[in-house]
Amino acid sequence: MTAWRAALLGFDEEGQPWRIDDGLLLVEQGRIIDLGPFAEATARHPGVAIVDRRGLTLAPGFIDAHVHYLQIDMIGAPAPGLLPWLQRHTFPLEARFDDPALAARTADFFLDELLRNGVTTALAWGSVHPQSAEALLAQSRARRMRMIVGKCLMDTDVPESVRDDARGGLEDTAALIARWHGVDRLGCAITPRFAPSCSPAQIAGAGELARAHPTVWVQSHAAENPDEFALVRRLHPRARSYLDVYDAAGLLRPRSVYAHCIHIDDHDRRRLADSGAAVAVCPSSNLFLGSGLFDFDAAGQAGMRWALASDVGAGTSLCPLRTMLAAFEVARLRGATPTAAQLWWHHTAGAARAVGLEGLVGNLEVGLEADFIVLDPQATPLLARRTAMADSLEEWLFAMMALGDDRAVREVVVLGEGAVGSR
Ligand code: GUN
Ligand code: ZN
Repeated sequence: MTAWRAALLGFDEEGQPWRIDDGLLLVEQGRIIDLGPFAEATARHPGVAIVDRRGLTLAPGFIDAHVHYLQIDMIGAPAPGLLPWLQRHTFPLEARFDDPALAARTADFFLDELLRNGVTTALAWGSVHPQSAEALLAQSRARRMRMIVGKCLMDTDVPESVRDDARGGLEDTAALIARWHGVDRLGCAITPRFAPSCSPAQIAGAGELARAHPTVWVQSHAAENPDEFALVRRLHPRARSYLDVYDAAGLLRPRSVYAHCIHIDDHDRRRLADSGAAVAVCPSSNLFLGSGLFDFDAAGQAGMRWALASDVGAGTSLCPLRTMLAAFEVARLRGATPTAAQLWWHHTAGAARAVGLEGLVGNLEVGLEADFIVLDPQATPLLARRTAMADSLEEWLFAMMALGDDRAVREVVVLGEGAVGSR
């Protein structure tokens, strides 16, 4: 058993944040077995050895609901919009990931970066090549991380070097599921890249695979960019909307996670809410590519599940604090004013609920897996000065979000064991 003494930050059932200024968190065999105010918790566990992190704050590890691991090497590659960005930068880079050695080196670096930024779980994309997904799964397993990974399905209108065929892509996905899904903390995702790159046969096959494997995730992109939207309308003239292309194939269901969903209507929002699918909201990516501004209020009114995501490499940072600030700024432009606590929830406990990981990760709560981070509110002189002035939890969370970056993540603990920065 290990007992961590620090301030503790978590969320209640309703998503409200709580904080225990002098707390104790007890971990045994990778799970949180008790937590509470220091005096009370030590009385329940007399003589327990204590890891002293006073002055620091233990918080849930972040969940990144959508990230392309191999695009880590193309962050900040500008283009006039999504479609030219894919053609100019993305597909040529991804073509190189038929090389398992390159995939392994990149996965290693990516996971180190993810952890260094306080992200302990992600829904991560490989390239079209199954060996790229294998590399990330293997490295995630070695780090004992809870990770969900898919290889892209893309059999249409993309360069040959990043193309599969409908049947082969689905067979590769099925083989990944058989080999990896549910192994240790790993999950697989059926990953049709987006409607324009998948033939009707491939989308239908993805739906069949999803029906055969209800615990497997589905991840894709939807309604990111107006040109992409127009392309889908031309390719699928009978579909009611872009999202309807996936819906008609049975791909809207719990554990389906669609990135972006900017250019959708209330009918789509209701379908997302009713089907149990979730949206990965990717503000830094949407700003970088000029894709548009996610409508937070409409999502809330429709009861949609959504989680924050970096969408690296269109996204410009793996740091959840940066993503939350970008989300706040986009929300402001849309007329919404989310609290820092709400945004934080959508990157931790709320993200877990949205993507089907509730009860496993995303919070400091008895019974959950012990994936947490140790935040340093004094990581920079300005952060120290500003957080010292905060006279409410909301103000403190906002200061961390507005001024913090990877330097504020002092340590990362995965399944109860120090992964980064442990002293
Ligand atoms: N749509 C299809 N592929 C991609 C991708 O790699 N990144 C983003 N942001 N959108 C996509
Ligand atoms: Zn993406």
